Amino acid sequence: MSVTFPDGFIWGTATAAHQVEGGNWNNDWWEWEHTSDRVREPSGDACDQYNRYEEDLDLLAGFGFNAYRFSIEWARIEPEEGEFSRVALDHYRRVCAACHERNLTPIVTFHHFSSPRWVAARGGWASAATAELFERYVTRASGHLGDLIGRACTINEPSMVATGGYLSGVFPPGQRDRDARHRANATFIDAHRRAVEVIRSGPGDAPVGICLAMSDYQAVDGGESYLERIRAGMEDVFLDALAGDDFVGVQCYSRTRVGPSGALRPEEGVETTQMGYEFWPESLEATIRRAYDRSGGVPVVVTENGIGTDDDTRRVEYTRRALQGVRRCLDDGIDVGGYVHWTLLDNFEWAEGYRPTFGLVAVDRETFERRPKPSATWLGTIARTGVMD
Ligand code: NOJ
Repeated sequence: MSVTFPDGFIWGTATAAHQVEGGNWNNDWWEWEHTSDRVREPSGDACDQYNRYEEDLDLLAGFGFNAYRFSIEWARIEPEEGEFSRVALDHYRRVCAACHERNLTPIVTFHHFSSPRWVAARGGWASAATAELFERYVTRASGHLGDLIGRACTINEPSMVATGGYLSGVFPPGQRDRDARHRANATFIDAHRRAVEVIRSGPGDAPVGICLAMSDYQAVDGGESYLERIRAGMEDVFLDALAGDDFVGVQCYSRTRVGPSGALRPEEGVETTQMGYEFWPESLEATIRRAYDRSGGVPVVVTENGIGTDDDTRRVEYTRRALQGVRRCLDDGIDVGGYVHWTLLDNFEWAEGYRPTFGLVAVDRETFERRPKPSATWLGTIARTGVMD
């Protein structure tokens, strides 16, 4: 049975600067890639999108999408504290303009995991003062780009940066310190609130929101209280701080089963992806519902959803089932404004390097040649027609 989506629905793909641009040597991730044994390989030239963005936008528009979510790199825009680069800002102006020329709405993320080295040296996100530094950067960047921004995402998955960087130690700065993790969550919330104000008071009228990492948490054998504890620090602390935002970006990949003493491994017999996650596309529906309820009805945009797999037919199946869930949410009156797929290109998957392939388009690691996969045409056709057969 075919499924239809509303007119005006946002159909896009997402990327992040550090994962696709290449040569982002001035941020904390680059340093981490060269000092930590927890990263599989360095990002290097990534997908050279810094130079090839026009080719990528041509592809995206050609497939049938109407939006592109990308991030701007703080370390390029403010390479040293208080020193702003006009050249970097102009580059991102050109990227935004190139989106408009192709009828793609630029969805701009101001912080996607990476921070300038000088910010890290000043204590990073565990330091409350970073919220003010972020506010100053956002003021400058939105002042320069705001009239061209179609939708603004302040911060991408703050819970992952706070937890990966300060609790599990797999992201920079590799700490394992419960207090630092709590402080980082609080700094992110402060930074988000400041950024919303600044973006709204600058040029343009883009809707503003934050993008949250969510999971379909499921309690197993008495895991309810542990589940609540995990979810409080990963999701609720942020969902409870969004009143008045224009939208919340929901980003979901799988479910998380939680037993009485913590998160459990994938259930026996359930297919897993390259990331080791369970193949669980229905998790998107569950998290949209939860984000909407818990935030008190803030409109939802799916700002990421996708799968790391080398079998493109599984990508199509995963996305089809995820979109069926989006449709059920719409049927129940939940305000879901769009679906942005992670990701356009096979790219640098952080600690996992280039091994996981989430892209609708493969990238030759030597020549950077783009090779669209069948899923790109499949999803682009849904984007163009609003109908999924
Ligand atoms: C979440 C992050 O925002 C993105 O950077 C990452 O690559 C994907 N999910 C896939 O893990």
